[in-house]
Amino acid sequence: MNDGYLKIESVSRAGGLKGEAELVGAKNAVLVTIASLLLTSGRSVLYNVPILADVYEMIELLRHVGAVIYFDTEKHQLTVDTTLVHSWTVGNVMMQKTRASFLILGPLLARFGKARIGFPGGDSIGKRPLDYHLKNFKKMGVMIHDENDFLCAEVDTLVAARIILEYPSVGATENIIMAATRAQGTTYIINAACEPEVFDLMSALQKMGARITVVAPATIIIEGVDELHAIEHTIMFDRLEAGSLLMATAITGGEIYLPQAHRDHLDIVLLKLQEMGHEITVGANGQGVHLKATQSPQAVSFKTGPFPGFPTDLQAPMMALQCVAQGSSIIEETVFENRFHHVHELVKMGALITIEHNKAMVTGVNNLYGTSVIASDIRAAMALVIAGLVAQGTTMVSGVHHWKRGYEQRVEKKLQCLGAAISLCEANDSNAPIFLNHAVIEKMN
Ligand code: UD1
Repeated sequence: MNDGYLKIESVSRAGGLKGEAELVGAKNAVLVTIASLLLTSGRSVLYNVPILADVYEMIELLRHVGAVIYFDTEKHQLTVDTTLVHSWTVGNVMMQKTRASFLILGPLLARFGKARIGFPGGDSIGKRPLDYHLKNFKKMGVMIHDENDFLCAEVDTLVAARIILEYPSVGATENIIMAATRAQGTTYIINAACEPEVFDLMSALQKMGARITVVAPATIIIEGVDELHAIEHTIMFDRLEAGSLLMATAITGGEIYLPQAHRDHLDIVLLKLQEMGHEITVGANGQGVHLKATQSPQAVSFKTGPFPGFPTDLQAPMMALQCVAQGSSIIEETVFENRFHHVHELVKMGALITIEHNKAMVTGVNNLYGTSVIASDIRAAMALVIAGLVAQGTTMVSGVHHWKRGYEQRVEKKLQCLGAAISLCEANDSNAPIFLNHAVIEKMN
């Protein structure tokens, strides 16, 4: 897909990025919350909705099944009327636009007792199977089979179940919670995902009238009810955007304040940034995060994991920081087995990284060099932009559709306001470089 490229010039480390930035609503919270509105009948309003390609895809998907939707992008306010939702069928083309599309399965089963949907798309960050969703829906009485590229699911009455997740999958936890809100009896999800976005969804569901409680360490209990009603709900701020802005500032030796960031959503990320030597200050009750970067960052090792572990979505941006830190680090990816596509591109910029299975060994270098690189997923795009902020010369990042899926246009503006020289260039720009991906280069050789 030729959709333009991001152009980044090096920021002087003497100044670095500096200032204050507002956060947008969280992508991973808003997509599932939009899907959850299919559980209700009536007019709901979501506030703090980010303007992202994935949000538009989710809006189209709900329109397709009959919802009437108005997106006031000035106010970041999404009005969704689900009164006339009449369809439980969504084809492959629409489903493949996002991974989050699969989160309509639970709500459709709760609403209609059936669903006929294509298979979801999403980033190329690993196998991303759906077995945890499907086998646990089966436990709730749902019959499932494949039919000409469609997944067909049907149930007379959704029944509560005791569900044990062998891995705390975010999507499976969310899908099961949504179905369970309308099941007969009380569902237990043991070893559930406890990401802040799952809690944001549960808070929206509770406003709808769902009965949900959480018991330590990670059991979610859902007592089924007959009906859920329309709501007004404000989407949580994006902790991944917060983490990315902190990292972008840290690599440039700058200073930033994020009034909407919350310590409790970023604990391990803040700890690792502190271990690198960056100074972190947090406001009262954990609200508001300030970072003052060290001029001589030390390399740190880290391992991704389910919340409260280090978020896999910040692995790539944090790796960019290690590329120019003093010393070496080991980065272990435990969530998605294939989430190292950015490594090859960072190496093209002069980084010293080797990979062994799910571990990346990074040795810090004095300088990175701007060149043309390809982003293979949303977070890889952020990692390459962050590296580009300190790379000598100009960095050009293609794969901009990934960037648009995960980050609002305002994130470029925010980076610009903080002092970055970043711009989104059109594909037909006469200065556009030719982006050759790894596979093409290997073929040419
Ligand atoms: C969500 C997030 C994504 C984040 C990820 C992990 C959204 C829209 N996306 O994705 O940004 O990176 O959580 O925090 O919220 N798995 C299975 N079988 C399944 C489901 C998952 O084996 O049925 C595996 C996956 O392959 C992966 C791991 O479980 O290795 C975690 O995946 P999961 O938590 O489900 O991620 P998503 O919900 O897809």
